[in-house]
Amino acid sequence: MMNQPASEAARLPDANEKMDIVFVGHVDHGKSTIVGRLMADTGSLPQGKLEQVRESCARNSRPFEYAFLIDALKDERSQNITIDSARVFFKSDRRHYIIIDAPGHIEFIKNMVTGASRAEAALLVIDAQEGVQENSRRHGYLLKMLGIRQIAVLINKMDLVGYRQEQFEQLRAEYSTYLSGIGVQATCFIPVSGREGDNVAGPSQHMGWYSGPTVLQALDSFEKKRAPVEQALRIPVQDIYRFTLFGDDRRIVAGTISSGALAAGDEIVFYPSGKHSQVKSIEAFNRPAIQRSEAGQATGFTLEQQIYIQRGEIATRVSDPAPAVSKKLRVSLFWLGKEPMVARKTYVLKLGTARVKASIEKIIGVMDAASGKISNDKHQIEHHEVAEIELALNRELAFDLSDTLSDTSRFVIVDQFEICGGGIVLAEVQDSESQLRESVLQRNLRWIQGGVTLEQRAERYSQRPTLVLITGKKGTGRKQTARDLENRLFQEGRHVYYLGFGSVIHGVDSDLKPNGSLEVHREHVRRLAEVAHLLLDAGFILILTAVEVTQDDLEIMEAIIDAKHIETVWMGDDVTTDLLFDLKVEERETAVTQIKHLLQEHGAIFRP
Ligand code: GTP
Ligand code: MG
Repeated sequence: MMNQPASEAARLPDANEKMDIVFVGHVDHGKSTIVGRLMADTGSLPQGKLEQVRESCARNSRPFEYAFLIDALKDERSQNITIDSARVFFKSDRRHYIIIDAPGHIEFIKNMVTGASRAEAALLVIDAQEGVQENSRRHGYLLKMLGIRQIAVLINKMDLVGYRQEQFEQLRAEYSTYLSGIGVQATCFIPVSGREGDNVAGPSQHMGWYSGPTVLQALDSFEKKRAPVEQALRIPVQDIYRFTLFGDDRRIVAGTISSGALAAGDEIVFYPSGKHSQVKSIEAFNRPAIQRSEAGQATGFTLEQQIYIQRGEIATRVSDPAPAVSKKLRVSLFWLGKEPMVARKTYVLKLGTARVKASIEKIIGVMDAASGKISNDKHQIEHHEVAEIELALNRELAFDLSDTLSDTSRFVIVDQFEICGGGIVLAEVQDSESQLRESVLQRNLRWIQGGVTLEQRAERYSQRPTLVLITGKKGTGRKQTARDLENRLFQEGRHVYYLGFGSVIHGVDSDLKPNGSLEVHREHVRRLAEVAHLLLDAGFILILTAVEVTQDDLEIMEAIIDAKHIETVWMGDDVTTDLLFDLKVEERETAVTQIKHLLQEHGAIFRP
């Protein structure tokens, strides 16, 4: 259909086309009734269902409700575990619809974020008599947040207000004002009566003043989203499988393609690491390898060069626009937790397959759902509030911005194993390491691969490349401890090397003028970390000494060397910086034993 002229495409129904629609609105405003009506009036109900429900109502002397149809269908389905009970299906002349009827907030957000459902359009119901309520606003915001731009607002129960145009116009004006305040424009407003069937599947006899579409027509006018196949490639890495049989050295990188397409021979890069390689083959389970795999498919592929990548990274093609990488994000977030979201508490953020620790850096604005007003002086985010905030992460994350690629911009916040919030990334926030990370990315992109992998070296040396950073106040015996440790590990057969900060300053850094500025200091640290990176890449355990290392220094190093490979040791009982160290050594005599112990515990040295 893509290549046909728009007018022709609009006339040609594709009977196999499917569209997910979410139904939202305040409680009791009539969502289920309208869905029931749509199904009944489009002939989508199973034979005899309507009569059956009517009879059962009569038997129990309760008035018939169209909403009961949904419940009746759900009951029927719950025996069939393959069908999700929150969804109902119906068909128009144009296409098939999957209606997600009033799921709980958590389910809805979770489904949207995890990709279990991908609503492309929404119907938002407002009771004509009760008017705009809290959830009418919240849901409007939620739709915007989840990137659903096609929204039909149904002013329902028009029968209760005498089908009066003024009432409709007044609500339309009120709700449009709210929507434009949050930057959303509804596709249309429709006056309906779910109970009486006005303007649902057919036109109304009661509202001659209205000439717009019915609900069914509005649905049919929604446009199918462009297939994400044509967008930039994004594969959140789910796992790396390794063949161990027959000395096979292959690794399969597995993940579901969220957008774009992948073909054998493609040059791909992984973010945040910037590691790159070429796709050797796309594997299919128990079938011969395939040439191509695309958005929506779970895929597994092997690489030409063995590189070390991790779950949570996002793979893309070198030729595609890269995702953003940062430790700070500006996000729009919907809070579902019973407990408010507070600063100084650590949460887990999940985006794609990545999980990172996150905490509030700054609250930019919190929207009060009842009034729709934004306040800028809030210190926490309450249950069901919507907020724009800055999040600080404990390590770099690869992601997209919500207005470029929606799937890889959506995240959930987890606290105590429960989803308690969801949102989208609006922007990356530059932090002090942004520039550094960019240069590290470039370095990795241009890195010339050797023929021996990190893992092969690790196996040969029985050690994991590790930077042991020994710091503390002057005169606490850092250097002597480093020498002792180097000796001890060397005697035990390790590949170990001791490097003092001073050794780098006078050689590698000889062009840097010591003027006491922070800039020069940071550049010293950066170069030191690059030198360390080389030695780690060669498989060494590197012992480094420097006086009074700060958390800021460590963060520079972590932008260059994966934090997993760094162990920090503070010497002496007097801690004079803000460094969050792994080990504190108070007695010089036990230092070497303690550090060795730490290395064993953290799996840096394999044999005891
Ligand atoms: P929840 O799922 O609980 O959030 O409610 P809902 O939005 O699905 O509302 P539902 O369809 O269950 O309708 C709530 C009540 O409003 C029911 O008693 C319906 O009969 C009534 N109702 C729904 N639509 C109309 C309408 O167009 N006119 C009138 N008079 N009543 C309606
Ligand atoms: Mg309902």
